[in-house]
Amino acid sequence: MTPVTSGPVAVIGLGTMGSGLAARLLDQGVRVRVWNRTPERAEPLARAGAFVAPHPAAAVEGTSAVICAVADGAALGAVMRGPDGVLAAGPYPGVVMCVGTVAPDEVIQIAGDVSSVLDVGMLGNADHARDGELRLFVGGDERAFNAARPILRMLGKEIAHLGALGSGMRMKLCLNLLMGIEVQALAEATELATACGLDRQLVLKTVANSGFASPVMAFKSRRLASGRYDEPDFRLRLMAKDLMLASKQAAAVGLSLPLATTAAETHVRATEQGLGDQDCVAVTRALAPKPENDT
Ligand SMILES: NC(=O)c1ccc[n+]([C@@H]2O[C@H](COP(=O)([O-])OP(=O)(O)OC[C@H]3O[C@@H](n4cnc5c(N)ncnc54)[C@H](OP(=O)(O)O)[C@@H]3O)[C@@H](O)[C@H]2O)c1
Repeated sequence: MTPVTSGPVAVIGLGTMGSGLAARLLDQGVRVRVWNRTPERAEPLARAGAFVAPHPAAAVEGTSAVICAVADGAALGAVMRGPDGVLAAGPYPGVVMCVGTVAPDEVIQIAGDVSSVLDVGMLGNADHARDGELRLFVGGDERAFNAARPILRMLGKEIAHLGALGSGMRMKLCLNLLMGIEVQALAEATELATACGLDRQLVLKTVANSGFASPVMAFKSRRLASGRYDEPDFRLRLMAKDLMLASKQAAAVGLSLPLATTAAETHVRATEQGLGDQDCVAVTRALAPKPENDT
């Protein structure tokens, strides 16, 4: 298979991550064709030189790779197989890179309809995507991986090919299992300290500077201290999805993971309470005594 070194690349899904990926490719001199369900989100990329297509099938015309950065498995199915989806005009001849976090089985199903598919777990945030600083965990066959490598190198500072299709998602779900539990632990400690009468800001500063804080916990401590959970780095509903997927993955291999199960339940409840489009630290609002008065 010819490496994807020239010719346009399609980016489908221009949320927090997809917008950053598309901007990065444009910066690297790649011709980029984009599509997003909510058209307004494509406007900054249009101004930066991307071609904005009316639907996914048009976005992939003439491309040798398509990056699907949509929210979940249902969205991936819709943009691939829906009316005007990537596969509407027949088999796609290039490489499909599924970079949104979905169940491993959901990318494996895509492979039934496409000859070259990779699942690419992304570790990092929007700034990392914009700057080519992601860590990428890739599953799929060697041929597709080699073909996509030039594009992957533009997007990531570290690229690990982990094995068969689904491996990238499995790795990503393990990483977000850690993050979800860690952020919930931070939220629980903060709510306990606050309910016991300690100064919330002082507690968060102490946690951030302690030996218990990972870089993520220190970063999220600052988010919690700001009390601003809008303009999410990572939406709470997406964390709920990943914790649910990790718990299902565990059950499928006969493991019972109590922390993962509890964190998934808390995040699902928080999403049902209307917190899904806030940053994932808003899980603290699902723990706080009512009325919640931390902002
Ligand atoms: N944010 C992070 O730090 C991060 C890091 C690594 C991996 N991820 C994963 O990457 C994926 C994208 O994350 P994000 O933060 O960019 O999410 P986001 O900002 O919520 O964007 C989600 C994207 O999916 C699209 N979408 C949702 N449902 C759709 C549907 N049914 N049909 C078509 N398009 C649909 C949205 O379109 P609209 O604009 O129309 O809503 C939007 O483009 C997720 O799977 C997430 O778990 C995120």
